[in-house]
Amino acid sequence: MNANILVLPGDGIGPDVTAAAVSVLQRVAERYGHDFRFETQLIGGAAIDATGTPLPDATLHAAQRADAVLLGAVGGPKWSDPNAKVRPEQGLLAIRRALGLFSNLRPVKPHPATLGASPIKPHLLQGVDVLVVRELTGGIYFGDKTRSEDDATDLCRYSVTEVERVVRHAAALARARSGKLTSVDKANVLETSRLWRDVTTRVMHDEFPDVRLEHQLVDSMAMHLLARPRDYDVIVTENMFGDILTDEASMLAGSLGLLPSASLGARKAGLYEPIHGSAPDIAGRGIANPYATILSAALLLRHSLGLETEARCVEQAVSDALDDGVFTADLAPAGTAVGTQTATAAVLERLQDCRVCELRD
Ligand code: NAD
Ligand code: IPM
Ligand code: MN
Repeated sequence: MNANILVLPGDGIGPDVTAAAVSVLQRVAERYGHDFRFETQLIGGAAIDATGTPLPDATLHAAQRADAVLLGAVGGPKWSDPNAKVRPEQGLLAIRRALGLFSNLRPVKPHPATLGASPIKPHLLQGVDVLVVRELTGGIYFGDKTRSEDDATDLCRYSVTEVERVVRHAAALARARSGKLTSVDKANVLETSRLWRDVTTRVMHDEFPDVRLEHQLVDSMAMHLLARPRDYDVIVTENMFGDILTDEASMLAGSLGLLPSASLGARKAGLYEPIHGSAPDIAGRGIANPYATILSAALLLRHSLGLETEARCVEQAVSDALDDGVFTADLAPAGTAVGTQTATAAVLERLQDCRVCELRD
């Protein structure tokens, strides 16, 4: 198949991890006879430096034309002055919103080989397979903001439609998995959460009576997620709760550098990015874990290009590399870690003799 893929490397470790994922996509294209065309554009701090804005028109237009977007990360100390008028993160929020990407899938499935990297006891992690569906274009991230000398406000707003569409998406995914959906809110305090809970209850009752719904308050969810992660399957929640809970959930997998994401909307074209940020503390050292971004490329193959076998081959290749102990510094005991390029080469090598493809042939 032909596909136009827009690559937005961004800042910090973003360029390193997107380069890794692009090399994997290139190898997939060669192996399966696809024609993937890659275009690269600026976003975030790199875009501010070059053009004065974190989401230049050329980037947005390219994203609107593309079949899928692969993004690294944005932000860093250079652009973090609290009084700055423009910030890299605004570019990321703006592109999510402009492309209508309201549903952000963040799967968390600890790999047996990395259980030791998690601070959670291994017996609690066995069999964990959680999918967090994070609402991505509403809530406190996008409400009006004010700032005066002695106060500041961030408005949190949700409409019925915004809740309905993400809950429907999560419920359909839950139906295809274990048939259980956990909706996370703060309905004991927040009006937006009471709306969220009402709408979720109605949509599930009317349209998904076969999917078991449970409501959970976000504070206790943060605890249960670590204490009994196996009890959860699909979790749907609002923008900020989903952001925080998934960084927490990364500790089930052992590292933030392992968690991919897919941001989807009404169109087939989505945006794919690791859940981690630009990691300024390790940027420029060639040691970032590329697996989260490579796994995001697998989600791109699956959700935007409809290439399920290819997606599974990439996931299997990463899994095989982990089985073989190919760990970057975030996962490995001191002295045994490999760099970004070696980890990427290990995935490319395993892609070459992929067992998923052998099963198919
Ligand atoms: P971060 O996710 O960048 O880093 C948190 C910790 O995890 C750091 O110690 C980092 O070294 C480590 N880490 C993250 N990704 C890793 C990887 N692939 N391999 C190995 N280690 C990894 O979060 P932060 O430090 O709070 O934020 C830094 C900047 O990134 C901020 O400007 C923030 O706004 C931005 N950010 C961007 C995105 C995004 O672009 N989607 C996401 C989160 C944070
Ligand atoms: C993420 C990031 C972003 C978010 C920031 C950088 C705007 O933390 O993708 O998880 O909060 O959505
Ligand atoms: Mn985040």
